[in-house]
Amino acid sequence: MKSYYDALFYDEAGARRYFNFVKDHAVGNTLLEFACGTGDVLNMLAPTFAVTGIDIDPEMIEQVPVKFPHLADKVSVGDFLDYSSDQKFDTVACIGDSTNYILTPEDLQRFITTMVGVSDHIIVDCHHPYRLREFSDDYYEEGSTDAFDYAYQIEVNGEHLVHVINFLDGTFDSIYQWVFDPHILIDGFSAQGYHVSVYTDYEHEGFLPEGEKIVLVATKETV
Ligand SMILES: C[S@@+](CC[C@H](N)C(=O)[O-])C[C@H]1O[C@@H](n2cnc3c(N)ncnc32)[C@H](O)[C@@H]1O
Repeated sequence: MKSYYDALFYDEAGARRYFNFVKDHAVGNTLLEFACGTGDVLNMLAPTFAVTGIDIDPEMIEQVPVKFPHLADKVSVGDFLDYSSDQKFDTVACIGDSTNYILTPEDLQRFITTMVGVSDHIIVDCHHPYRLREFSDDYYEEGSTDAFDYAYQIEVNGEHLVHVINFLDGTFDSIYQWVFDPHILIDGFSAQGYHVSVYTDYEHEGFLPEGEKIVLVATKETV
């Protein structure tokens, strides 16, 4: 991804919305962001929290110090399906529909296990199931950036969204996302002893019937 990711997907307002939500709902000082991408939200969080960023894609992680030199020693390559650390973090966040890169119920369970292993306070988002209806007629956009022209298409295939980006030079990339039922995460964190608060689109409390994203704030219950 990667070389084109920021040019195509960077959305200042969207990053700021993620940042504001995480800042308002995080606890403590140490904050781990899984799937930090090229570091935009991590950079916004850095003045307030002692941040650590992890992403599975080396090309994304390589971009972080180019954009934000002060984050160079705060980020590394890692997999949120099997990451472990000696340190427990006050908060762990995974946002920007990164959880939808998980493609099987088994891996979603591994994700839950990883999250509860690293923190007692979890902030995570995923696609709202309504997205499958929203994109059922397919989405198509043509555009250009400073660096390239592209056609961007989103198709629904069962419970999956298939993003295809065709570049005018004939190359293409595709991203496959599973739009799972967010109750799998809600029930999974609850089963691990977490109290889970649910938000729709980062601003409405509760699980509304329509929306783009479901956001969960899960906190380990103490007796
Ligand atoms: C849609 S991007 C979001 C990036 C960033 N959070 C943002 O909001 O701009 C999804 C990110 O998830 C990362 N990712 C996918 N699977 C992952 C995994 N198993 N472990 C860690 N990162 C993963 C990808 O490399 C990519 O950077």
